[in-house]
Amino acid sequence: MTHILLAGRTGQVGRELERLLSRGVRLAALGRQKMDLCSPDSIRKAVRGISPDIIVNAAAYTAVDKAESEPELAMQVNGVAPGVLAEEAKRVNALLVHYSTDYIFDGVHAEPYVEEDVPNPRNTYGKTKLEGERAIAAAGGAYLILRTSWIYSAQPPNFVLTMLKLGREKKELAVVDDQVGSPTWARALAEATTELLRQSDRARQASGVYHFSAQGYTSRFNFAKRIFEVAREISHTATGSPVLRPITTAEYPLPAARPLNAATSKEKIRRVFGVEMPEWEDQLRGFLKEIQLQFLPPQGKG
Ligand SMILES: NC(=O)c1ccc[n+]([C@@H]2O[C@H](COP(=O)([O-])OP(=O)(O)OC[C@H]3O[C@@H](n4cnc5c(N)ncnc54)[C@H](OP(=O)(O)O)[C@@H]3O)[C@@H](O)[C@H]2O)c1
Repeated sequence: MTHILLAGRTGQVGRELERLLSRGVRLAALGRQKMDLCSPDSIRKAVRGISPDIIVNAAAYTAVDKAESEPELAMQVNGVAPGVLAEEAKRVNALLVHYSTDYIFDGVHAEPYVEEDVPNPRNTYGKTKLEGERAIAAAGGAYLILRTSWIYSAQPPNFVLTMLKLGREKKELAVVDDQVGSPTWARALAEATTELLRQSDRARQASGVYHFSAQGYTSRFNFAKRIFEVAREISHTATGSPVLRPITTAEYPLPAARPLNAATSKEKIRRVFGVEMPEWEDQLRGFLKEIQLQFLPPQGKG
């Protein structure tokens, strides 16, 4: 039975992976108490103790704005730890599956980015994630780096839950309309990742970087618009009807700069593994249906 070490079990993607992988494989799902990415010794001890066939790293420092004021911590977790994991993976002959981000690009392309495009991150988070990619490649073992984007799940904080909450509290919401990306449900990403894990022999032959997020692209503004429209369609209830106002990124300054065009082509992973995720709107509908009981109160009588 395949033995998998999963790091980041408490995160959006890690939770979904742990649920999916709990059948059919031998799974060691670790939180930071068992393997702290700030400590190379802790990583070495965990990997050597488990000696897995596959390591899936869903752990990362993901606070994009906070990373601007904590660059050393972000670099340790995102830049240094993946390299240590990759060295340890090589040592025990494990395949390393690691998530990265479209924020390694500067976002100035007019077209969706392909894997061969040259990275040029605009913020500290992107720089640290790129460093992690490079450290993994330099270790020389078998790996898949899956660059994903705009993840949401039932676990806050994320864009969908923030919009739904703000929509119930405010009459008007200003949302940036000039950032484009592929909103991806953590569940869909975890399901597609398990399809890749079933092809681990092929993955060992096809080590490299892959863009891996929902099909299709949209702006943050249109994403927000569809969140409210679909939530209303499927719940038949007042889910908040804020007036949405499109604004530019320049009108909404944040500590970390964001790439404007974060759209990526998912052609390579489809070609090599035959795996693709559903369209972003289908994922959104699935997610909102799943959480409607939890977050959207049923329509009142009368
Ligand atoms: N979220 C997005 O929109 C997005 C977009 C593109 C790419 N990605 C990438 O996708 C992957 C999964 O993201 P996510 O949204 O699921 O992340 P998340 O929800 O923020 O979860 C991060 C996970 O990393 C763990 N972690 C953080 N520091 C750690 C440390 N020092 N030692 C051990 N574990 C540590 C956290 O543990 P605790 O619970 O203990 O803090 C948590 O389990 C990451 O590689 C991220 O960079 C995310």
